[in-house]
Amino acid sequence: MDTDRLVGELTDFLRIPSVSTDPSHNADCRAAAEWVAGELRRMGCREVQFLASGTHPVVWGVGPAVPGAPTLLLYGHYDVQPPDPLDEWTTPPFEPTVRDGRLFARGAADDKGQVFCLLKAIEAGGRPPINFHFLIEGEEEYGSRVLFELLRREPERTRADVVLIADMAYVAPAWPAVYTTLRGLCYAEITVRTAKSDLDSGEFGGAAPNAHEELLRLLGKLKTPDGTIRVPGLYSAVKRPSKTELATWKRLPFRESDFLRHRVQAKALVGLKHYSVLERLWALPTFEIHGIVGGFTGDGAKTVIPAEATAKVSLRLVPDQKLRTVERQLALAVKRLAPKYVQASVKFLHGADPAVVPVTHASFKLLDQAFREVVGRGTIAARAGGSIPVVPALGRSGAPVILTGIGLPDDRLHAPNEKLDLRQLWDGIRVFRRFYELLGKRGA
Ligand code: BES
Ligand code: MN
Ligand code: MN
Repeated sequence: MDTDRLVGELTDFLRIPSVSTDPSHNADCRAAAEWVAGELRRMGCREVQFLASGTHPVVWGVGPAVPGAPTLLLYGHYDVQPPDPLDEWTTPPFEPTVRDGRLFARGAADDKGQVFCLLKAIEAGGRPPINFHFLIEGEEEYGSRVLFELLRREPERTRADVVLIADMAYVAPAWPAVYTTLRGLCYAEITVRTAKSDLDSGEFGGAAPNAHEELLRLLGKLKTPDGTIRVPGLYSAVKRPSKTELATWKRLPFRESDFLRHRVQAKALVGLKHYSVLERLWALPTFEIHGIVGGFTGDGAKTVIPAEATAKVSLRLVPDQKLRTVERQLALAVKRLAPKYVQASVKFLHGADPAVVPVTHASFKLLDQAFREVVGRGTIAARAGGSIPVVPALGRSGAPVILTGIGLPDDRLHAPNEKLDLRQLWDGIRVFRRFYELLGKRGA
């Protein structure tokens, strides 16, 4: 493998700051889409199109036709999360740098490096007998709205024998995995209004309601200190993992104390103590406050009583919760918890249903074999705490959806100093290459 050339090419891709949530990066998202399209054209795709390009285009591609061969749909995303806080990066997020065999850059593991891996595996050696279809989107990091609409209008885009997604990590170094569930997401803004306009605390303090205070009290009531989310009905759809599944988790190379010490790096873990940490991460819903805005946060002092305050919050959802139901439940809970003199409203920004992915189809055996041959261990079935909104829709045509990845748990997705171990990339190219060969050999 010409590793120097490959690192150079991936570096070009990673240098593009395709932050999808920030409109000032729209041109960069376009440039990243162009980069993907260029690769697909160079690989001899018959059809390369930008679909639904209202915002960030979905790159659609159809590889050279191989009559009688299986169709494999590759999904990934070229957009990345915002890189801040910038001063915590050792080298800048969009100046990819190799240190100690690791490539540091925003998007190195999530997901540009993995998209790159899927593509380069096609070219590593002669062409595998596969009809490749490509759906590489640019809005995964804020809800995949464009792709959802596209797939609703044109569900035939997902028609394939197998769907392969590389946007995940090994469960531990040397332990590749396939994922059976993803959590869903319900992202919302809770706004509290207490007066017509801001008031001065000298004139009104002691008698006027304060929007921040009301918002904090409300948020405080939404989760108890032991970690129970107080949204009525929220837990009723939650399905406990089977005894067998819980037993397999005990055999994973995961130790709660290591997780606390090396990954969380806090003083203690929180949450529902009656459930194992993996169950809390994979099979229980969450409620998180991401940020609170309103009132005075500038330099110096200003004695304002804010009339309005907004919290950005989200819930992660688990099988068999439904996004629409949870939205209703949250809106109702907020209404009920707010005192009469407070105007509270909830605005839903985006979300996703949880995904359940059966891993019984024969193609999973082929991926297992490919990993076994290349890295010496087959895939273990695990669950994931994160979300990829479009996964349920990708499986709607009936094709098996293989959710896997070449990342490692310490890649720091969405955080400063995100990285991809180059060893994982080289192994990954060999693994996917081998998977394509095995799938091609099996026929359609
Ligand atoms: N690749 C991640 C999802 C992921 C991360 C799955 C870790 C499993 C383990 C994806 O790019 C992502 O960040 N998804 C967002 C979705 C959201 C913004 C709609 C997430 O999970 O926060
Ligand atoms: Mn991703
Ligand atoms: Mn992500």
